[in-house]
Amino acid sequence: MTPKPLRKLRVLVTCGPTREPLDPVRFLSNRSTGTLGIALARTFARRGHSVTLAAGPIALPLHIGKEIRVIRFETARDLHRLALKESRKADAVCMTAAVADFRPAVAASGKMKRGTSALTVKLVPNPDILADLGRRKPKGQILVGFSVESSRLGEEGEKKLFRKNLDLLAAQTVGGAKTPFGDVRLDVLLLGRGGSREELRNVSKAAYAARIVRRIEGIKRNVIHSKP
Ligand code: CTP
Repeated sequence: MTPKPLRKLRVLVTCGPTREPLDPVRFLSNRSTGTLGIALARTFARRGHSVTLAAGPIALPLHIGKEIRVIRFETARDLHRLALKESRKADAVCMTAAVADFRPAVAASGKMKRGTSALTVKLVPNPDILADLGRRKPKGQILVGFSVESSRLGEEGEKKLFRKNLDLLAAQTVGGAKTPFGDVRLDVLLLGRGGSREELRNVSKAAYAARIVRRIEGIKRNVIHSKP
């Protein structure tokens, strides 16, 4: 069967960490560098697709490419608003952003002063942005999640795939000597909605991104990825 020609896709990629303020100078965040999201945005753009890259507080490469539209976010709630708006017309959404699951219940309006007693910070849950996108997914949109698991990769990944109504979930291992942050090689399990499982072993983020882009194009062409 010859694959149908693929039209230009409108793609939203989110990347980088969120920052959750404690006071005007301090925040809670994580180690995400946005490397995979940037690689995805570049690959989509190189293949002629129209890309919006929503980037958290990371240093973007100077030559990101003028064909990529960049918008910025800081907190999970900023990203939530932005993702709901920008995803409406997207053919595919890749949610590589490392969203903080919790934020301080209160961000102090002035700088918190040093004290001598212990300080307890109350954290409240942030919205699950991807699950929300899954609930509102327009017909035909491809929603891709990226999870980090320290055990039972396949099982935990499957749960997220269905709970968040995703078309593809890339599950990465973290723990021991494995860190998913920065320009590292990863072992990834790609889980498809139709039950497909594909393992990528020791892949660079560029190769990983290229595979995700091909899979999305494949789904758009209605190519069925069967179980190996
Ligand atoms: N995600 C999101 N909003 C959140 C947390 C995560 O949109 N508040 C997205 C991430 O961008 C990622 C996917 O959900 O694409 C999976 O992230 P992960 O942290 O593994 O999922 P959680 O639902 O937070 O599950 P866990 O309990 O394992 O942390």
